[in-house]
Amino acid sequence: MSAPVTLLELKAVTKRYATANGANALPVLNGVTLTVTRGDSVAIIGPSGSGKSTLLQIVGTLDRATSGEVLLEGNNLAALDDQQVAAVRNQQIGFVFQAHYLLPQCSVWENVLVPTLAQSISEIRNPKPEPAADRARRLLKRVGLAERLHHRPGQLSGGERQRVAVVRALINQPQLLLADEPTGALDHASATALGQLLVELNREEGVTLIVVTHALELAERMGRVMELKDGRLVQNVKNQ
Ligand SMILES: Nc1ncnc2c1ncn2[C@@H]1O[C@H](COP(=O)(O)OP(=O)(O)OP(=O)(O)O)[C@@H](O)[C@H]1O
Ligand SMILES: [Mg+2]
Repeated sequence: MSAPVTLLELKAVTKRYATANGANALPVLNGVTLTVTRGDSVAIIGPSGSGKSTLLQIVGTLDRATSGEVLLEGNNLAALDDQQVAAVRNQQIGFVFQAHYLLPQCSVWENVLVPTLAQSISEIRNPKPEPAADRARRLLKRVGLAERLHHRPGQLSGGERQRVAVVRALINQPQLLLADEPTGALDHASATALGQLLVELNREEGVTLIVVTHALELAERMGRVMELKDGRLVQNVKNQ
């Protein structure tokens, strides 16, 4: 076994949202520190409004921290220009949200290949080891959707739609999969199955996983459970 390699590091990350009148609101994040090793699986729990989605959006480059550092493979995200940030977001990070955000007019096959359409010259020059179409076919089969390639999202169950969203998130072979309440809109059986699938894909595909969830059952399947409390991340006491 090789030594664990740090994939993601958060150092004293804070976030304040400015109020409408320009004054600084109370901090949502107040010094979040976290180290995530390649291949890790981490759950983030905490009450509604504690800043879980805010934190995930900062890690996912959808938002910027007010202060502190977010390092992905040692690169400080704040130091990247917009084009570099867009490349990181497209190539290194996959997202799964509570709502699937699939394109209703496109088939399952088309939906999972959408992220492969935006490729930079360097990605075209350095193609990934597994071609996108092969990967799409393999992963859709893996999540049990081999017979659904030409269905549209409206012709799928809720659990099936979320599985398409997971394949779409993995299609560009990201290092990091971020999931915000991925089972929040599913019934119990589908939620359990999706949680199990995420755990298995973390292992099989070697993708590092950070899952925000209210579902303790899902959280406890992750390697580590962290809790957002008063703007800081702490190890969940029940899982020490
Ligand atoms: N764009 C924004 N502008 C101003 N305030 C915001 C914005 N987004 C979030 N907030 C505030 O930041 C706090 C944290 O919100 P966030 O969505 O991160 O919480 P959460 O932990 O994900 O909650 P939930 O479990 O309900 O999804 C909330 O008080 C929210 O009102
Ligand atoms: Mg949220």
